[in-house]
Formats: sequence, structure tokens, C-alpha cells
Amino acid sequence: MFERPRGGERAVLVSLCFQSRELSANCTGTDGDETLREFRELAVSAAAEPVGTVTGRRKAPESRLFVGSGKAEEIRQQVAESGAEVVLFNHALSPSQERNLERLLQCRVLDRTGLILDIFAQRARTHEGKLQVELAQLKHLSTRLIRGWTHLERQKGGIGLRGPGETQLETDRRLIGERMRQIHRKLQRVERQREQGRRGRKRAELPTLSLVGYTNAGKSTLFNALTDAEVYAADQLFATLDPTLRRIEMGPQQRPAVLADTVGFIRDLPHDLVAAFRSTLQETRDADVLLHVVDAANTERDETIVQVNEVLAEIEAEDVPQLLVYNKIDLLPDGQPRLDRDADGRPWRVWLSAVDGRGVELLHEALGELFAHARVARRIHLPAAATRLRARFYAFGAVQKETTGDNGECLLEVEMDRRDWDALAQHEDMRGVVWNDLGAATVDMDRTEADQYLAATAQAP
Ligand code: GTP
Repeated sequence: MFERPRGGERAVLVSLCFQSRELSANCTGTDGDETLREFRELAVSAAAEPVGTVTGRRKAPESRLFVGSGKAEEIRQQVAESGAEVVLFNHALSPSQERNLERLLQCRVLDRTGLILDIFAQRARTHEGKLQVELAQLKHLSTRLIRGWTHLERQKGGIGLRGPGETQLETDRRLIGERMRQIHRKLQRVERQREQGRRGRKRAELPTLSLVGYTNAGKSTLFNALTDAEVYAADQLFATLDPTLRRIEMGPQQRPAVLADTVGFIRDLPHDLVAAFRSTLQETRDADVLLHVVDAANTERDETIVQVNEVLAEIEAEDVPQLLVYNKIDLLPDGQPRLDRDADGRPWRVWLSAVDGRGVELLHEALGELFAHARVARRIHLPAAATRLRARFYAFGAVQKETTGDNGECLLEVEMDRRDWDALAQHEDMRGVVWNDLGAATVDMDRTEADQYLAATAQAP
């Protein structure tokens, strides 16, 4: 469709540092060497074979070629000497910069967004993931068609080369537009199904845990270790593109929960891409707890935590409670499994190895504690006069079951956030109210049995 250089696998990588703080946010390590290392990994993930690198510093991008003319010449020489088929930029290029560079270098140029999209396209596994990637690719392409490739219009202008009243460019645009609308409709259907699934889980009141973390941190491996499922884990960036949901049992009480594996995050994930994967990332926003997996052996691990938190903020998931999972302790000298707690004694950070399984039981322990603290399930005996309190429990949507006694007193089974319970206990009139925690043993008792059980075990404020 396009008369662009075809490209191939031998690649020259271009990664520059800029003076302005915003533009060089992606420039870490001495003169950006860490950034370059990661960019190289990204390129290899896309099946490119790096045959040369061009680095440098600039005040600001140049509007025509992004780089200055001297740097452009350096790239051109590298391409000529190495026989590269593609030049990969670790930056977002405008369509016209991409076109100008391709003309000058006589080889295909791909910017960072294009590269990440390429990787996404290779990795997407589920129907939804594939649709999301295709849509994002078409969006990326369509801006390049409209603003960047108008010269094709003139080239196609000869007699007999035109479509019936339409230039090739218009046909291309129309086809892309149609395909985008089609994908939108399909995605909406898939999203509705996903939404129903989520509501179903909420009804069943299964807590949801979502694995998040920098790409390659070991999320899929941990997912497998926790669920015994075979999710594709590979030592490549972005091995995971779709959330995969599995039921797991948490903690010593084997409490059921849903575990979601999500897409790996990376620094400077282009905003458009975050938007494209919004519905996939929604699982993350709706989770009760995020398991933030960190590669403990990565020298840049603190920086990766910051980057992941930035993406979480972008998808409005920054307030979801997190449990840090420092993975790959087998790669650390003297790496031992450990559970660190915060100042309030709550589980904060678990050190483990998803590969050899050491420390996974500590993660279970931490989860068991976190959830035991978060919710309460109680059987409550309310005197007849406590109508206001009864209404409050209903207002919280906490009542699971109610039985009324002969004298107007009632027995409620409630499940609710511990915080809400504490607030009620503090502000409402609790005189004459008794309750006990609802253990598995009491769930199916009839009222007489329950009354007896209550009498034996009840607490009062
Ligand atoms: P993305 O899909 O890119 O986001 O990656 P991910 O976070 O899901 O990582 P994945 O589970 O694919 O693991 C990445 C690489 O790290 C694989 O080669 C794993 O075998 C390796 N790995 C994961 N956990 C451990 C660990 O505990 N120790 C060691 N040594 N390697 C690990």
C-alpha cells in the first residue's frame, strides 16, 4: 500500500538525551547507557538484530529530521557501513520527520511507538488483545497516511492509475476507517462480556488480585507459581499482553480469590497505547489488591517501581492497595525469602523466587492477612428497637441473610469492609447488640443452632 522502504531485521538504534527535563525523562544511567540497554532489549524483543547504535545529546529535537544534520549524516554512514535495513528511534517521531528521515537514509524508520506496537502485535494472544493492537496500529498508521504520505497522492495521479473517482490515498483512508469502525464494534462486544464477568465476580464476592509490574519482572512466572497454569513466560519484553484470569486459594484458610495477570509496563509507555489497553487495564483498577512484582536483581529496580506507579496513576489505579513482591531472590547474593512489614505491622513487601518457589508461602501468608483485615463476616443479634442500625447494614449492602424472631429481634448475617464496621460500631447505638465472627462452621446453621452458638460465643461492645 505504501511506497516505503520495506525494512528488515538488521537495525541501527538511535537514542538521544535531551537537556529539557521532560524530554530526557527517558535518559537514565551515565549518558543514557541504561536507557540504551533497555532500548536494545526492546528492539531484540521485536526480533531486530542491532548492528549499530547512535547516541548523543541535544537541546531540543529539530523539527525536520528530529536530529541535527550532523547526527543524520552519522546515522546515514552507520546504515551504509552495517547494511542495516531499518533505523529504530527511541523517541516519538512526527509523521513528517519519519518520512524525511526515510528519504534521507533510504531505509525504513520506525519510532518508539511503532516499535512497541510491533511487539504488541507479535505477542497479543487473546481475541481482545489482538483487536486492541490492530486498532492502535491503524490509528498510528492513519495519522501517517493523512499528514505524512500525501506525496503518494500526486504520484498516483496518472491516467488509468486512478480508482473510479477516488485516489489511492482516499481508498486507503476509507478502508482503514471502515476497519477501525468494525474493530470498535467488536471490541465493544468483548468489553461488555468482560464487564459481565467482572460483575459476576463481584456478586460472588471473590476478591480480585491483579499482578502489575515492569516488563520482565516475572509476573507470568509468579502467576504460574500461584495457579499452576501454563501462561507463556519468556525472557522477552512484553511476553504478556492479555490479562489472564484464574481462581486461586489464598492464605492458610485457602480463601478463594481471582488472580489477573496483566500487561507489562515500561518507561514512557506512549499515552495512546495506555489508552488502547484501557479495558485490559481496567482489571487493575478494579482489583482489591495489586501485587506489584519487582525484579529484585535489576539494578534499576527503584526506578522501575516509580515508572509502574506512574502508569498506575494514568489509569487511575494509584489508590488500590499494593503488596510489593520482590522477585528473583535466587539471583541475589544471599537472597533469602522474607516478609517485611510497614510501621503498622501490615505486610508491605515479600521477597521470593517465582522460579524456585522459595518464599511463595510467605506471599500466601501476607495475602491471607491482608484480606482477613480488610473484610469482616459476622452474625449479629439485633434487638427489636435497633431499626436504625438494621437499616444501616442494608444501606452498606452488607446483609447476606436475615431471620426475624418472635419478639421482633432479628439475626443478620453480614459481610462488609472492616472499616465500615468500625465506623458503625463507633457512631451507632450498639446497646443490646451481640455478634460473633462468621466462621465456615456456622454458615449453614439454622436459627436455633445459630442462637445457641451465638449465646456461647457472642461478644458485646
Ligand atoms: P512481561 O510479559 O514482559 O511483562 O514479563 P513478565 O513480568 O510476565 O515476566 P516473565 O514471567 O515472562 O519472566 C521474565 C523472565 O524472568 C523469564 O525468563 C523468567 O524465567 C524469568 N524469571 C521470572 N521469575 C524469576 C525468578 O524468580 N528467578 C529467576 N532467576 N528468573 C525469573
